[in-house]
Amino acid sequence: MRILSGIQPSGSMHLGNYLGALRQWVEGQSSDAFYCVVDLHALTLQIEPEKLREQTTDLLATLIAAGLDPEVCTIFIQSQVPYHAQLNWLLECVTTYGELSRMTAFKEKSQRQEGFRVGLLTYPVLQAADILLYQTEFVPVGDDQRQHLEMARTIAERFNNRFGETFRVPVGTQPKVAARVMDLQEPTRKMSKSISSPLGNLHMFDAPEDIRKKISKAVTDTDGEVRFDWEKKPGLSNLLEIYSSLSGETPEQVAGRYTRYGELKTDLSELVVTTFAPMKQRYEELLLDPGNLYKIAANGAEKASDVAGVVYRRAANAMGLSG
Ligand code: AMP
Ligand code: TRP
Repeated sequence: MRILSGIQPSGSMHLGNYLGALRQWVEGQSSDAFYCVVDLHALTLQIEPEKLREQTTDLLATLIAAGLDPEVCTIFIQSQVPYHAQLNWLLECVTTYGELSRMTAFKEKSQRQEGFRVGLLTYPVLQAADILLYQTEFVPVGDDQRQHLEMARTIAERFNNRFGETFRVPVGTQPKVAARVMDLQEPTRKMSKSISSPLGNLHMFDAPEDIRKKISKAVTDTDGEVRFDWEKKPGLSNLLEIYSSLSGETPEQVAGRYTRYGELKTDLSELVVTTFAPMKQRYEELLLDPGNLYKIAANGAEKASDVAGVVYRRAANAMGLSG
């Protein structure tokens, strides 16, 4: 079962990244699973070079600390496998400007930036290249990636129709709960690395006192009844989903055990603190030896290149390229 997914080195990982994506990665790891740090995608954020380097190291440590085992799966850095950028170009030539300019993420981000770069428009094509290069069957991602996944499927199908069967058409997978973790302060907006919300974003490696503070200040409602109801109680339902995702119960089961918001929040804080404490310790240890992290990534890039090279050459040949 071939799996591939990617995550941008764009800042410290929040609970949405962990529950929506990373935990699925850990559960699905095998010799057939490829996980990449998509540093080329992060260039669309116009990060300072030093910061990008630092965040790449940090993300490698986070992935391993969260449970990805480089002996089991392949962990690599996207830019270290040049086929990603190469296939990106081929796929740009089968994708239309119209379909890219209609993507929700593009519309939102381009409105926020003046003089936005073309990379923001073509971002989903590079993501399709990441996925299609590995003949990927399943792509574990959070709910916000559905449209990008649909684009990758469209590109694969179009390429196959025009140039002959080349790519497997991938399927996105989302966790049953917590596929869309919301901001703790604004529970109608998803938790996001790109929007600064100091009390609304809960990071995996926040200090325990910050975790407690953020959860205790999380916006709920005033009717006081503990009930799982996204429409009427988005703030509380968000906390219940986070809780249920960490404890393995359903959100309704969790809700059934509480009569007070305060008690639920206290228990949830402890659950979050105890879940991440061992990972945080491992993360700090791993960061003491960045050389080791990059050795792991280089090994991963070698394994990834073996697979991606074959698929890239097939696609290039199908299009009539001789290189
Ligand atoms: P990003 O931070 O955009 O690189 O996202 C990395 C992964 O985390 C992707 O699979 C996203 O779908 C997932 N993700 C990001 N934000 C959330 C969220 N608020 N809830 C659930 N999953 C998320
Ligand atoms: N766009 C994804 C995100 O923001 C990151 C990503 C890039 C990705 N390439 C990918 C996810 C390939 C899955 C598969 O989260």
